[in-house]
Amino acid sequence: MNTDSLFRPFSLKSLNIKNRIVMAPMTRSFSPNGVPTSDVALYYRKRAEGEVGLILSEGTVINRPSSSNDANVPHFYGTEALAGWQQVINNVHEAGGAMGPQIWHMGVMDNHASGWVPPVPFEGPSGINRPGNNNGKTMTESDIADVIAAFGQAAADAKQLGFDCVEIHGAHGYLIDQFFWEGTNLRTDSYGGKTLPERSRFAIEVIKEVRKRVGDDFAVIIRLSQFKPAAYDNKLAATPQEMEAWLTPLADAGIDIFHCSQRRFWEPEFNDSDLNFAGWAKKLTGKATITVGSVGLSGDFFGAFAGESSQASSLDELLRRYDRGDFDLVAVGRALLSDPQWTKKVHQGHNEQLKGFSPAALGQLVME
Ligand SMILES: Cc1cc2nc3c(=O)[nH]c(=O)nc-3n(C[C@H](O)[C@H](O)[C@H](O)COP(=O)(O)O)c2cc1C
Repeated sequence: MNTDSLFRPFSLKSLNIKNRIVMAPMTRSFSPNGVPTSDVALYYRKRAEGEVGLILSEGTVINRPSSSNDANVPHFYGTEALAGWQQVINNVHEAGGAMGPQIWHMGVMDNHASGWVPPVPFEGPSGINRPGNNNGKTMTESDIADVIAAFGQAAADAKQLGFDCVEIHGAHGYLIDQFFWEGTNLRTDSYGGKTLPERSRFAIEVIKEVRKRVGDDFAVIIRLSQFKPAAYDNKLAATPQEMEAWLTPLADAGIDIFHCSQRRFWEPEFNDSDLNFAGWAKKLTGKATITVGSVGLSGDFFGAFAGESSQASSLDELLRRYDRGDFDLVAVGRALLSDPQWTKKVHQGHNEQLKGFSPAALGQLVME
């Protein structure tokens, strides 16, 4: 297996990275009261030392009283939390890496198992996080305007702290995705609608505000998924035409890179072609894309949450698609959560040393 092509540099605006390996954003809940600790900084530094090209942070929440359901998820606002992030990016840069925060509003959530709840009710397009499950309030237009401004402020702060790019979390059933999905967006005003392009208005306004706050030269990524945790097989866009009608306005609003979340990168997005989500997004928009989903592992990440282990697996199929030009970057989640040296081992061809993934790794910040 020759992985040389994955170790070519990539540049786009503010983003200059030494290879094509991206650490996927992974919530770790090790930031008490929302403040990333020195251990969190060291955890990311170790991945940069292990040759990851671009690190995307765990989801880090914007300045809204109910943007999070977990007291240990990091904030991306407030003096203390931003000082914590300053330590993170300084460490990553010292180790030769690049990084962007994944800015996040969870939207309407189930209550966290810890029992912690935010000071005000969760908020979303229609107060539900899946059909029939009301656990929050329906956002007013003024709530929407405030959330858009908070996304913009977080992006501006990312640039100010020296991050290399920013990623907007628009996937996995959280706030932005709650607007996209007809199952959670029942609005009858101009933020709702029968079609996906109509329900994309909120995302487009978030992207425009982010772009306005960071300027033209700062790389802006959006993470999207067709699936929802409440609907694994969901397709927001059921055809390439629908996908084009969804993604083109997002690109026009200011997106540079589409981060196309799948559980298994090898699964075709539509019939009659083996292209995956990232492959289609690149073909339809001409933008750079990131693929993700069980890279180098035998089982997927929902299995991990159900306590399943995964073994290291071949990168041949990934390389076949990458070398064909389907996508520009490759995000790796659990393999890097468990092993900071994963990228270096792949680069040096030490495949026999790849560890796979064990759920025990979720309970700690693995440093070695
Ligand atoms: C512990 C854990 C936490 C995650 N948290 C996030 C998150 O905060 N934001 C996000 O977009 N995806 C999150 N994901 C999904 C990953 O970014 C990634 O898409 C998924 O794990 C598939 O990649 P993998 O198969 O290489 O692990 C998380 C996954 C795991 C395992």
